[in-house]
Amino acid sequence: MIPQAVVAMLACARIGAVHSVVFGGFAASELYVDVATTIFSASLLPEVTLRAKRIEDCQPKVIVTASCGVEPSRIVSYKPLLNEALSKCKHKASTQIIYQRPEQTLVLDPEKGDRDWEEEVASAERMERTGECVDVAARDPLYLLYTSGSTGAPKGIVRENGGHAVAVNWSMPNIFGVAPGDVFFCSSDIGWVVGHSFIVYGPLLHGCTTVLYEGKPVGTPDAGAFWRIVEEYKVKVLSTAPTAIRAIKVCQFCRFQNHDSMPKAPEKRADPDGNYVKQYDISSLKHLFLAGERSDPDTVVHFSKLLNVPVRDNYWQTETGFPITAPCAFTHPSDSTPPKTGSAGPPIPGYDVRVLSSTLSEHTHDHAESTTNSKLKEAPPNVLGNLALKLPLPPGCFMDLWNGTDKFVKGYLSKSEGYLDLTDAGWIDSDGYVNVMGRTDDVINTAGHRLSTGAMEEIVSAHPMVAECAVVGAKDAMKGEVAVGFTVLKQSSTLSTPTHTPEKLIKELRSAVRTQIGAFACFNHVYVLEKLPKTRSGKVLRRVLRAIVNGEEVVVPPTIEDPGVVEEIEGVVRGKGLKGV
Ligand code: COA
Ligand code: AMP
Repeated sequence: MIPQAVVAMLACARIGAVHSVVFGGFAASELYVDVATTIFSASLLPEVTLRAKRIEDCQPKVIVTASCGVEPSRIVSYKPLLNEALSKCKHKASTQIIYQRPEQTLVLDPEKGDRDWEEEVASAERMERTGECVDVAARDPLYLLYTSGSTGAPKGIVRENGGHAVAVNWSMPNIFGVAPGDVFFCSSDIGWVVGHSFIVYGPLLHGCTTVLYEGKPVGTPDAGAFWRIVEEYKVKVLSTAPTAIRAIKVCQFCRFQNHDSMPKAPEKRADPDGNYVKQYDISSLKHLFLAGERSDPDTVVHFSKLLNVPVRDNYWQTETGFPITAPCAFTHPSDSTPPKTGSAGPPIPGYDVRVLSSTLSEHTHDHAESTTNSKLKEAPPNVLGNLALKLPLPPGCFMDLWNGTDKFVKGYLSKSEGYLDLTDAGWIDSDGYVNVMGRTDDVINTAGHRLSTGAMEEIVSAHPMVAECAVVGAKDAMKGEVAVGFTVLKQSSTLSTPTHTPEKLIKELRSAVRTQIGAFACFNHVYVLEKLPKTRSGKVLRRVLRAIVNGEEVVVPPTIEDPGVVEEIEGVVRGKGLKGV
């Protein structure tokens, strides 16, 4: 993440152009209309899945990218990814502006529309082209941000100028407790909504200083990175993801052990006892905000003691653009709402949060299947159900999908008339604090990244040996949730020959997800089964698989086709453990 990325966003806003930022960790095929099978041998192509992705969907005139991104273990070349996408896109952007990072400079091809960022800036300066501000209407779109839904096709969330500016500007003093001149450090990435709202627009609209951090909470170079930044820039508020902060306290952060560039001593990788905090003056820090996934109580308690500041869990989505719930800090400490461990706080003004429940789902914690029940009604306090917003929506919240008004109405507004479905399960306690338990659709949250298990299933099932598959989320001590795949092979496929071992298949499936979604999807666990658990009508019982991988009590529904399959799968999972870390 480099300042030029923010400059590009703000330049679009200035001239009334709509921007759509793509997270640097995505694979090339997240950009174009993707044939989900392309990475497997062409002679073995089974059914082909077409997915309209970002470039095809938003049809950009100009694409701006850096030559590369910098990750702890490698340099990620963006231009080849872009070239691959452009070569496969029907839509052609007229210009690609490339910022050449010193870590990797590339030969550009002006014939194909490539332009060098520095040369373009110099030329604009020579010609005294300032790019005057363009007035836009409040309801004109400021940006599109694509996010995962239940299928492989990401949804383009449309954010409008007026409501967004009001909402994020209001959030700064009231939710986060910062005033003009204060320093705000949001450690997310501008590829995600949190980064749009609170690395870029919120702090800058409110006259705060924002910190742009390219690095990880640990390993770049050590687990004191956040505290060093707090001291150096006198940060008043740190906003991060539970995963990021958990990484600092989790002792055996084994991922980095194999990277030669990483420090080898365990105490340099993580800081379970909080020793790094003591090396820095963090007295400027007044609040720690956590968002993106559920904050586990252990982490909240650990950091509120260690940093001696309130830890404020806040809940929101790409769709809403700013927090739906939060224990607000307010600029005057005496006004602040006390956080409650385990809860994401009460609703923010403008959001009327309700819990909708059906008689069928009321007594079960089965989120995914509960949403198919049609008769939902408002639940009393402390009853688990589907979280929903009673209409109307507040300013800043999305009001449409790009090229997808029908999908917007069907996907978000049709479940219960007069409500927007948040596709999260949760409950509201008697004090009005909201507790968010997890998604009700086929979406999981890995390290604060929203990922579609449906998209992973499309990729896995495209493998020529796979007859059917299911991907579910399993709890993970550091990343919150990770994807676990279950496959059943085609009858003609055998895994006993040297060319087709289970290990080889698993490796191919992992690599397929990595190549088609991105490394950050962390699709490392795959099992090969004889049979998936299904209802007699043929629906895969993903909740049974979720219960098994999470070591929870398995509630076997009476509609199951073959009850014996549950024991078999438990045996496979228990016998082999989670495969593949
Ligand atoms: N560009 C390219 N690749 C990226 C990337 C990016 N911006 N971000 C992650 N990746 C890649 C990594 O290089 C890694 O690839 P590898 O397997 O080849 O090494 C893979 O994705 C997994 O990376 P990551 O998710 O960062 O896991 P990690 O185990 O390396 O680090 C954490 C763990 C907890 C430190 C890290 O996940 C993190 O900082 N999470 C917080 C994220 C966050 O702020 N989310 C909030 C969004 S609102
Ligand atoms: P995204 O759109 O990527 O920001 O992801 C939104 C999803 O992240 C929500 O639907 C929730 O499932 C989850 N989420 C975000 N914040 C929280 C939180 N504070 N507690 C629990 N889940 C959260």
